[in-house]
Amino acid sequence: MSTTEVRLTLNGREVAAAAEPRSHLADFLRDEHLLTGTHLGCEHGVCGACTLFVDGRPVRACLTLAVSCQDAEVRSVEGFDEDPLMARLREAFSRHHGLQCGYCTPGMLATAYDIVRRLPQADAARIRRELAGNLCRCTGYAGIVAAIEDVLAGDPPPAAVVPVERRRRPRPRTEKPAAEATRTSDSQPTAPADESLPDRAALADGVALERTLRLAAPPERVWAVLSDIPTVVSCIPGASLDAPPEDGRLTGRCVVAAGPMKASFRGRARVALDAAARRGSVLGRGRDGLSRSSLEGLLDFALHEESEAAARLELAMRYRLKGPLAQFGRPALVEEIADRLLAQVSDEIARRALAGPPAEGTGAAAAPQRALGGLGLLAHALRGLVKRILRRR
Ligand code: FES
Ligand code: FES
Repeated sequence: MSTTEVRLTLNGREVAAAAEPRSHLADFLRDEHLLTGTHLGCEHGVCGACTLFVDGRPVRACLTLAVSCQDAEVRSVEGFDEDPLMARLREAFSRHHGLQCGYCTPGMLATAYDIVRRLPQADAARIRRELAGNLCRCTGYAGIVAAIEDVLAGDPPPAAVVPVERRRRPRPRTEKPAAEATRTSDSQPTAPADESLPDRAALADGVALERTLRLAAPPERVWAVLSDIPTVVSCIPGASLDAPPEDGRLTGRCVVAAGPMKASFRGRARVALDAAARRGSVLGRGRDGLSRSSLEGLLDFALHEESEAAARLELAMRYRLKGPLAQFGRPALVEEIADRLLAQVSDEIARRALAGPPAEGTGAAAAPQRALGGLGLLAHALRGLVKRILRRR
């Protein structure tokens, strides 16, 4: 398999080593640099044992491709030897019996380090919520929470000892000409490049999701709904526009809640439509201010005629979720939640298509769909996930 030379700053030192496209950062550190403090448990983003810092943010090393860390600043547990705040945490973990076998401890310390700098007021309940992405099979968590509370109560406060510093990496230069970099397929309509939107080409390594939806409504009427952006937005649970779209550009927000996780993404998108081919694309980026997570994605869609009274909508999505919410973003669970949302959106689009073509621009005034959420959505998603796993056996 071909390899790429990955250059990055590792625990303060410039390093370079070859990595296969599929190698994750944990293997890159353990195998190429013999830094075995980054532990691997599940390798699926579930247990948190591999948590470390990339550009000042905690990430799962098992879900981070080594090649995506070109020019990044990576800090693993070995890079904290001289760090005064980590010294406090280590001491508190040991005083409160916050570790037993120690397998989870490097990841647990990384998350604890992030908590004490970012959330100076966190109480035990908030600490437990923040730690939800780090599993420990030994301690029962009480000692870990007590250790973090102890450090938070210390003097001077942790954020004064080591302030939060997050680095913005320079965008990698692309060798490809711009036209090629923004093309996904010959026939897919694309909007012109917009600095405030993600780069289509850069989303190629995002999580992929492909779905086919069947809508019991005449295709031309479905297209009439799909080509009216405010109407489509009003079909999406929890979504709303700030103002009528201009030239395919829109700003707005979307609220999603699943069990204890709730996010309100505010962002912008650009829609490109090809009415003759009945296809289009949506490129967007949003940020949840509360969790400081960001989501960027690309949706290509194409409408096909199944019969006079039925249409088929092919969807191809690519997305990247970053920040603390990504800790919960198990791809299988995200897929289940997306399926539930898509089922509701397609039902609503079919209902409106059957009701007749919308008068232009009336969608913005149409009642928006209430955000799906709470335990119902999470329970549904988990049920679907369990069924899917059982079917595979
Ligand atoms: S090994 Fe990365 S989250 Fe479990
Ligand atoms: S101390 Fe053993 S898994 Fe956490």
